[in-house]
Amino acid sequence: MSSIQEQIEALRRQINEHNYRYYVLNDPIISDYDFDALLRELQQLEAKYPEFDDPNSPTRRVGSDLSVGFESVPHRFPMLSLANTYSEEEVREFDARIHREIEGPVEYVCELKFDGTAISLTYEHGRLLRAVTRGDGAMGDDVTANVRTIRSIPLQLMGEGYPDFFEIRGEILMPHSSFERLNREREDIGEAPFANPRNAASGTLKLQNSAEVARRGLDNFMYWVVGENLPFQSHYESLQAARRWGFKVSDHMRKCQHIEEIFDFIHEWDKKRETLPYDTDGAVIKVDRFALQKRLGTTAKAPRWAVAYKFKAEQARTRLRSVDFQVGRTGAITPVANLDPVHLAGTIVKRASLHNADQIALLDIRLQDMVYVEKGGEIIPKITGVDLSARPADSRPFEFITRCPECGTPLVKDEGEARHYCPNALHCPPQIMGRIVHFIARKAMDIEGLGEETVQLLYDNGLVKDPADLYELKREDLMNLPRLGEKSADNILASIQQSKQVPFQRVLFAIGIRYVGETTAKNLALQFRTIDALLAADVNALSAADEVGEKIARSIRAYFDDPENQRLVQRLRAQGLCFEVRQRADATERLQGLHFVISGTFERHSREQLKELIEQHGGRNLSGVSSNVDYLLAGAHIGPAKLAKAQKLGVKMISEADFEQMIAEERSVDEVASTSASEQDADALTSETPQNVSTPSQKEKTEKNQALQRRLF
Ligand code: IVH
Repeated sequence: MSSIQEQIEALRRQINEHNYRYYVLNDPIISDYDFDALLRELQQLEAKYPEFDDPNSPTRRVGSDLSVGFESVPHRFPMLSLANTYSEEEVREFDARIHREIEGPVEYVCELKFDGTAISLTYEHGRLLRAVTRGDGAMGDDVTANVRTIRSIPLQLMGEGYPDFFEIRGEILMPHSSFERLNREREDIGEAPFANPRNAASGTLKLQNSAEVARRGLDNFMYWVVGENLPFQSHYESLQAARRWGFKVSDHMRKCQHIEEIFDFIHEWDKKRETLPYDTDGAVIKVDRFALQKRLGTTAKAPRWAVAYKFKAEQARTRLRSVDFQVGRTGAITPVANLDPVHLAGTIVKRASLHNADQIALLDIRLQDMVYVEKGGEIIPKITGVDLSARPADSRPFEFITRCPECGTPLVKDEGEARHYCPNALHCPPQIMGRIVHFIARKAMDIEGLGEETVQLLYDNGLVKDPADLYELKREDLMNLPRLGEKSADNILASIQQSKQVPFQRVLFAIGIRYVGETTAKNLALQFRTIDALLAADVNALSAADEVGEKIARSIRAYFDDPENQRLVQRLRAQGLCFEVRQRADATERLQGLHFVISGTFERHSREQLKELIEQHGGRNLSGVSSNVDYLLAGAHIGPAKLAKAQKLGVKMISEADFEQMIAEERSVDEVASTSASEQDADALTSETPQNVSTPSQKEKTEKNQALQRRLF
């Protein structure tokens, strides 16, 4: 083996180990910065020596932008479902049946039932070969490219003793933190949010863009090693081994000898599941020993050695008093229920989501009804039903509003859309405010010091009604506002000035075209390069850009066809914002999205030079330490207050030498942009369903499935 190849493989091993420590054990032993350095080193070697390419290299975790269809593939072992019950009595019956069929003691394993989407992974000689969804149980979709991006799934197994060829099954899930972030982003660009983490997980797994999958933060738990002649006697043993091989196996798994221990587990987790950072919807009880599982066998649908007990969703019953209608930045109307306060899962609930008009009609929810409220993974509870027996006699069907509650404009509802919109984008106050708040956000123009409250003040005082007005603000305007001192006014003005350096792609994101998130904005900027080219492009030309479907193309065209928007763009342009891809010869995006604070004195650079370098490489300089800061570039005699604050907030500190390393290898802007779609945050905008994919006809699929079913059962 050549020494380069050895070096590459050693790096891959090292990175896999660190990934495992970080994503599975939650116990990293190196800093993110050092980890990124290792990954970069590997990326560079792989780029230089493509002959040592490997689809399972940890560098592939970032995914690719390539659209791939999903091939429908057979499961070697059918993916059965589980017998489900909500009744403790049926769990007792399950245990009684097992004892009728098997003499002597039986050990069970109790596990959590994870609420995500099932996956079957095949490993050959310790390497991930394939990842397939459940599908219809006999055939599933090959989603390997997407699953590779989930960092808690090992691409190369660790340790020893794993079979040459085996399958392992588990659940892909979306933790609450990822779910909330994703939905916030979707709402921000005018996309409908996912109803719950399960839908978000399965929607994400079927995305055509694995870079986007990588970004969405999926996780997993494995719960079943499947194969013939496994070197274990029991399920429990096999999962402990799987954990040693690098799989994420839940710690909340317990061996039980007796039915009462099973109920202890169930009752304990029915309470404690609130505290988990992901959704569980029950417990799964499995006979532990493989020999006994084999004796018990399976029915056509489910194994006879396991049962799922489902937790009842905690529900509360209360009265619906009124409905508010919120208007978002894009004009989307969200109905929110006001309820009589009621206790639910540890909190008092006063408001609940009603989603949209269709949902209200479907459940026939009426004012003054007694309604049932549930909490899912979502923070906001939702109304799931109505107690019809308690309906007041004079009740009348709920009438959705027809006019905007803020500006009175008649609402519109596009075909195929569940939500109503207020079309008065220009003059509807919450839409105006929402657009400005979006414009100044960190991922957009990043105007520090200006928050929602100040924007509201500026708007209320008639100083700002669109983003271009920000650039015409004067010192006096700001200083006359309540609660705003001289210093904050100057900071805001400086930050507004600095935002003129923000690159075209982020300006394009900032102006807030419906459905244009960060990635789409970046793709458009790279493809069209100037605003003039973009303004001239028709729907066809726009659709030709990466990841821009017809819906997005139409939305872009509609935006630029609006004379008001044209005026806004012209004004922003005249004010000096960047409306074309600018490329300094020495510019890179190496520090893109990173915020620095410089403090102390340095050996090889002045502070000004360091600031220059940060900007040259796409980073931003901030004046004070806050949670927005990614790195404190610390020299000698660093200010003690800054140091203390940085330590308190956990801001990473780097030396001059560290910084020099960070910017050492220069790549051009284009190179970075085309290779690192997922190094930076991408947006939530890709179709959730396969597009332009040639798939077998339904008939072909059915025939294939039937043949398989015959073979498998
Ligand atoms: S064992 C033969 N264990 O629940 C199926 N399933 O309702 C054996 N699930 O399709 C599956 N957590 O997607 C098993 N700890 C767990 C589970 C689990 C979640 C899912 C799985 C299955 C579904 C059945």
